[in-house]
Amino acid sequence: MSTDDLRRRIEYFKDLGVKELYRREASPFVPEAPPIVTETVPEQISAALVQPSASVTPEVELPSLAPTGDTLLQIGQDIGDCTRCALHKGRNKIVFGDGNPEAPLVFVGEGPGADEDAQGIPFVGRAGQLLTQMIEGTAKKEGIPLVRADVYICNVVKCRPPENRTPEPDEMAICGQFLFRQLQVIRPRAICALGSTAAKALLGGKDGVTKLRGKWHKWNDIPLIVTYHPSYLLRAYNVEAKREAWEDLKKVLHFVYD
Ligand code: SF4
Ligand code: URA
Repeated sequence: MSTDDLRRRIEYFKDLGVKELYRREASPFVPEAPPIVTETVPEQISAALVQPSASVTPEVELPSLAPTGDTLLQIGQDIGDCTRCALHKGRNKIVFGDGNPEAPLVFVGEGPGADEDAQGIPFVGRAGQLLTQMIEGTAKKEGIPLVRADVYICNVVKCRPPENRTPEPDEMAICGQFLFRQLQVIRPRAICALGSTAAKALLGGKDGVTKLRGKWHKWNDIPLIVTYHPSYLLRAYNVEAKREAWEDLKKVLHFVYD
């Protein structure tokens, strides 16, 4: 990378609200392994995975995926030492979620990467640190007192796909039920879907971020914004995407915290 490229890249991160470029460090947080439970998921729950999206009005009310009195703890216990999809084979740690269990805003990513798989915490690697800095940087610029710990962050699939490949539809459908339950329990004021995989899991359909971003959608009556995945912002030097991601974040932060 030339000095000019480097300078532009640093400017780019600065615009996103990133104040420091970091080196990776071991996390002090080592979550306990989830307890092992052997129960399997009832078939009707797997069958009811596709939730109504804003554009689809089901003729029949779909059953709630969340058992009454569901809790994040219960969901974690139900996941247990999960082997329900092929992703269990390559994982080190199940990455359940992180942050405020009563957060008014939930960010949903795709699936754990190498750092997340090692630590058991979502969005702690390069993309994660960018996400954290984007959230905190944008909030600060907008005069909203907010740190990462105030929101909740999780993924569509809880185990790292090999080589960080995109999760397969069956993996998203199986693990998605846990995501849906997490969202039902937290019932945030808004959801921010990061990238196409999260958008597909939550809205159904085939549209990608370019088509979906910039307007409000709904997941089970909860307002939802789609924006670029931070990995995409790290990879592509794309001024427009950066500006748009910033707009999306501003929009969702003001909606939730004003
Ligand atoms: Fe279970 Fe989800 Fe991991 Fe698949 S990705 S093994 S469904 S926890
Ligand atoms: N990318 C994701 O989608 N999720 C993570 O937790 C980390 C990187």
